[in-house]
Amino acid sequence: MLGGESRGVKPTVGACCPQASRFTHPAGRIANPPVFAIRPVPRTRRLDPVRRGAYVLSKSPPNEELTVIVENAHLRIVPGREADFERAFRAAQPILTGAQGCLSAGLFPDAEDDSAYLLQVTWRTLRDHVVTFPGSEAGRRFAEQVAHFFDGEPQVRHFETSDIAADPATSAVVDSFRDTPDPRLRAILGGLTRHLHAFVREARPSIAEWNQAVEFLTEAGQKCTDTRQEFILLSDVLGVSMLVETMNAQQTGTASTVLGPFHLTESPRRALGDSIDLLGKARPCVISGRVLGADGEPVPGADIDVWQCTEDGFYDVQQPGVQPPGNGRGRFTADGDGRYWFRTVVPSHYPIPTDGPVGRLLESSKRHPYRPAHVHFIVGAAGYRELTTHAFVADSPYLESDAVFAVKPSLVVDFAESPDEAEAAGYHVTAPFVHAQFDIILEKHS
Ligand SMILES: [Fe+2]
Repeated sequence: MLGGESRGVKPTVGACCPQASRFTHPAGRIANPPVFAIRPVPRTRRLDPVRRGAYVLSKSPPNEELTVIVENAHLRIVPGREADFERAFRAAQPILTGAQGCLSAGLFPDAEDDSAYLLQVTWRTLRDHVVTFPGSEAGRRFAEQVAHFFDGEPQVRHFETSDIAADPATSAVVDSFRDTPDPRLRAILGGLTRHLHAFVREARPSIAEWNQAVEFLTEAGQKCTDTRQEFILLSDVLGVSMLVETMNAQQTGTASTVLGPFHLTESPRRALGDSIDLLGKARPCVISGRVLGADGEPVPGADIDVWQCTEDGFYDVQQPGVQPPGNGRGRFTADGDGRYWFRTVVPSHYPIPTDGPVGRLLESSKRHPYRPAHVHFIVGAAGYRELTTHAFVADSPYLESDAVFAVKPSLVVDFAESPDEAEAAGYHVTAPFVHAQFDIILEKHS
C-alpha cells in the first residue's frame, strides 16, 4: 500500500525517533517533555560497582558512568513497507551505533504484529540520546533513512539497566575504551566486550575449556598461509561470513554471497572467450551473461573475477603439482555492451578443508563439510558497488545444506546441455556442450 507512506512520520532532523527531536534545545537543555517524563535518576538508584562481591575489580566510589540507559522505541511501520524498513535499518544501523554515547542497537520484530517493531538502543547516558543525538549529523542521517517508514509516532521509554553492561567485570573493560577517538571503533570494542562477557557467563567454561578455546584459535591462525585461510573458514561455518555479507548486501540487483577461503588477489588476466580450464580433461562448459545496472543499462568494461574448483572438486591451490597455478581462475573485462563469456568445466560439489581445527569442529558436531557446486564471481565497475557472489549449479548435491550457509535461490543457475553446433562454434567448443547464462546486476554507488 504505497499510498500509506504519506501517513508515515516525516524524517525528523537529528532524531533517532521523532519523539526524541522534542528534547532538542538550542541551549542543550531538555525541553518540552513528551508523553513520558524524563526524570533525574535518584542517586540511590545508581549502581554500585562494588556491591557484587564476585566481580569486584575496584573499590573506587560508585561511578555514574557504569549506569547505562536502554531506550525502548515501539515502532509501527507503514503496512507493506516492513521489508523496506528492515533493509533501511540494516543500512542505517552503523550510523546509530557509531553515534556518540550509543553502545548498541537492535531491532526486534513484534511476534504478534507484522507492522510493529521494538528498537532497543543502549546509551551511555540519557543525555546522549535526548540531547546530543538529535542535534548530531548521525542523528540527522539516521532519521533521514528510517523515519519515513514510521506509521505514527514511536512510543519511547528509557530505562536504567543493571544488566551486564553495568557489571563491574564488564563495564570496567567497556569503560577502558571510552577515550578511543574513533567513535565506530569505540562502539565495536564496547559491543565486543559486552557480548563476549555475556557468552562467557552463559557458557561458564572451566579454565581447561578456556585454554582449549585459546589453543583452537591459535591453531586456526597457525594453519593460515598465503593460500589457506582457516579464519575465513571458521567465520564461514559459523554463518558469520554470510551474516556480514547479507547486512552489507546491495539492496537491488544480483544477490551477494560469501567470498570463501580460496580467492586469490592475483587472478590471471584473460581475454573474453578464453578458457580457465588449463587441464582439458572434462566436458567443456561456457558461462556467459551481461553485466547490467539496476535500470537495465549495460555496464561496459566491468571487471569480472571468477574462480572455481575442478570437476573433481579441488581448487588449484589445493593441488600444487597436480593443477597448474591459475587453473580455474580468470579475470575478464566485459565488452562494450557489458557482455562476458568464458570457457571452463562444470565444477563439482566439494568438501571445505577438514585437515585443520575447523574440520575437527565439524566432525565433533556431526556436520558434513560439503558445499554445493558453484562458480565464484567478484564483479566491479566505476560508479557501481562491487559484488561478491556465486553461480550455483542447479541440481547439485548440498544446495539445501551448504556447509557455509551461502545458497540464495536467485543464484541457482541451470548448467544446461546445448546441442547447438553453431552456438558451440561461436564459443570455440564442440557440441554438445554445457552452457550457463548468468546476468549480473550491479547497484550504483549511492
Ligand atoms: Fe568455492
